Amino acid sequence: MTATTELKVGVAGAGRVGSVHIENVIETSGLELVAVCTVVQSEIDMVSKIAPSTTKIFKDFDEFISRAFDLLIICTPTKFHKEHVEKALKTGKHVFCEKPLGPDAKTAWEIYDIALQYSTQKVACGFPRRFADVFQEAAARVKRGDIGKIMSVRSQSVDPYEPSEFFTNYIKNSGGIFVDMNIHDIDVCLYLMGGDETPVTAYATGTANMFPQFAEFGDVDDAFGLVTFESGKVMALYGNRDSMQGHHASAEIAGTKGRITANGSPRLLDLLITDPSGSKTLGAKSHMDLFREAFKKEIRDMRDWILYKKEVAFNLKDAAKAVSIASALMDSLHKGEAVKVLY
Ligand SMILES: NC(=O)c1ccc[n+]([C@@H]2O[C@H](COP(=O)([O-])OP(=O)(O)OC[C@H]3O[C@@H](n4cnc5c(N)ncnc54)[C@H](O)[C@@H]3O)[C@@H](O)[C@H]2O)c1
Repeated sequence: MTATTELKVGVAGAGRVGSVHIENVIETSGLELVAVCTVVQSEIDMVSKIAPSTTKIFKDFDEFISRAFDLLIICTPTKFHKEHVEKALKTGKHVFCEKPLGPDAKTAWEIYDIALQYSTQKVACGFPRRFADVFQEAAARVKRGDIGKIMSVRSQSVDPYEPSEFFTNYIKNSGGIFVDMNIHDIDVCLYLMGGDETPVTAYATGTANMFPQFAEFGDVDDAFGLVTFESGKVMALYGNRDSMQGHHASAEIAGTKGRITANGSPRLLDLLITDPSGSKTLGAKSHMDLFREAFKKEIRDMRDWILYKKEVAFNLKDAAKAVSIASALMDSLHKGEAVKVLY
């Protein structure tokens, strides 16, 4: 392929995250949105308005995947990821699959094994934090040895309070806070640790004070997780779905020679506003808001990985490992005791 080659792209799913990827594909040079698949009529209407007139829209996945294109971006519910990855690879496509790789550890590792069988096709699992400048700079400094030997990594996701019935229904089918939300923290901790770490045990606890209904389906809105690794490192996680000020994702890496804190204060821009009420910064409203640029870079890097063999931050093994860790944390949360990570 030459520098002028365009990659033809199909996007499966045009909902919350699919719509973000569709917009990014449309505005990214070198990519052409040729097909979209969604079963939701309002999304078909939305895609028809923003996509090029040449983009074909399908309701049936098999009809969609039989079309000729180079890269499939999977933004369908997690329970479909394995089927959609497998069908894309069988029809010769590269794959970008949204997180989590699968709904449980067994399925995630099956997807990993399937991907290994198609060595000439690229398979990525999307985690935007790996493409955010702040985490990339932190990872580069860790790799360079700036803070010595890594001892522990902490990461948190604090999400806005959302009292709607839609949100409760979403949580009910989400797989639980560690699989749905803290998977971002687990993945970024694996990324920041840098090596191929082997998780050993997981312990989780939490409460459902703001959303007591979450307890009925074994979930919490305030979650704490601890994971130990064969190397002696420790991963500490915090997840919260009750924030009144918006979204805040941050991480801290502790090394023998120092520490690095990424996104320590909840702000969207490096902007300090001072007025008679005091000083304040602008917080991010949502995960999509905070990682807007990272979502774009993720897709550009996918393009460059395929077209120019660029070195990228995607790591499919970490994506499967993250599901193993998240599933163990949910298991521990339900049992109230530490569990082995099945890995
Ligand atoms: N990276 C992130 O920050 C992020 C954010 C949100 C969601 N996600 C992940 O993206 C995936 C989708 O989540 P969402 O919140 O966008 O979901 P959503 O419910 O908003 O959208 C789901 C989409 O899948 C389509 N779909 C459903 N069944 C289908 C089928 N059988 N064949 C083809 N299309 C089908 C629907 O038409 C819809 O377009 C999940 O795996 C989720 O974990 C990632």
